[in-house]
Amino acid sequence: MTTRALIRTLLAAVALMGLAAPAADAKESSPLVIGHRGASGYLPEHTLESYRLAIKLGADYIEPDLVATKDGVLIARHEPDITLSTDVKDHPEFADRKTTKMVDGVPTEGWFASDFTLAEIKTLGAKQTRAGRPTEFDGQFKVPTLQEVIDLARRGVRGRGAKRRSGKASRGGLKVGIYPETKHPTFHERLGLPLEGRLVTVLERNGLSRRNAPVFIQSFEQANLKQLNTMTPVRLVQLVDANDTDANGDPTYAPPFDRPYDWTVAGRTDLFSYFATDAGLAEIKTYADGIGPWKVYIVGTDPAGNIKKVTDLIDRAHAHGLLIHTWTFRDDALPVAYVGGPIEEYLRFYRLGIDGVFSDFPGTAWTAREIFRGP
Ligand code: G3P
Ligand code: CA
Repeated sequence: MTTRALIRTLLAAVALMGLAAPAADAKESSPLVIGHRGASGYLPEHTLESYRLAIKLGADYIEPDLVATKDGVLIARHEPDITLSTDVKDHPEFADRKTTKMVDGVPTEGWFASDFTLAEIKTLGAKQTRAGRPTEFDGQFKVPTLQEVIDLARRGVRGRGAKRRSGKASRGGLKVGIYPETKHPTFHERLGLPLEGRLVTVLERNGLSRRNAPVFIQSFEQANLKQLNTMTPVRLVQLVDANDTDANGDPTYAPPFDRPYDWTVAGRTDLFSYFATDAGLAEIKTYADGIGPWKVYIVGTDPAGNIKKVTDLIDRAHAHGLLIHTWTFRDDALPVAYVGGPIEEYLRFYRLGIDGVFSDFPGTAWTAREIFRGP
């Protein structure tokens, strides 16, 4: 057992004895409000403008999903394929970059960040990716690097999210936390652009590769988290996906949303559902600090959005000494069960004991937390 694994085991034992909260940093708000792709319900996702708005609206953390450029710079994009999230297809000078790559076993046609230098990426404009959301800002904002996101988190902005944390040296000078996600680590490794070393290098350069830094690293794959566990003491979160839900509100599985892609490559046949078992939680505890399941693992809804079950996953995660953060809360994609509106959904999860929520509308998550805490 590595020293770090031993420390994790001891912390879990302490938590199980009721002597300490699971793995939570006592200085942090709880439940955490995590600005999912910034405040992506309002502004094009993964732009400094979206992150800035999230901070103003009360986010404790801002979430950059990370992919790599051709010259190895980490930028904030949800996918390595930047066709939908940028105006690249409107740039005739890049027409010949359109190609097909295999992403987690799926042939994907489009323009890929890994075929562009950062300087070329900076000529593109970000776009709204979800139907029904405002498109008036399309093309106006640039794609930021991870370093630029950190600079914003350090600088802060006037708003709910920044003023509570100003000046705390222990936070590495950040006024809000950052919650980077390694996107498609196996894909990037095969391209010769692995994400992990680049991410740790940026964190180290900013004094953020520390146990108590306001940083969580998340991933749907497992092997890269295990690797990161040997590279940095920063807190790690295992994401848990599924394809859809069934009539009973249980998650369903189909490629590429059936298991971590590194498991597919390695021949491991467990599904993502394994992570929600006690054996899976114990396994996560050997290399990570938290679990980040799709919210249907906690409140199971059928495809129509009716609540079919409430699980004990939050309590069992805590019993294993793990934090639990869940996603994604959207005012404009609310399950029909919440007739009282989005606040009702947050309150349901807050009362169940969730440690953090990823929200496209962090202001709503913040307001619900004020209500939850009481007058
Ligand atoms: O990282 C939590 C949540 O963001 C996972 O989903 O697809 O939005 O990255 P995705
Ligand atoms: Ca994400």
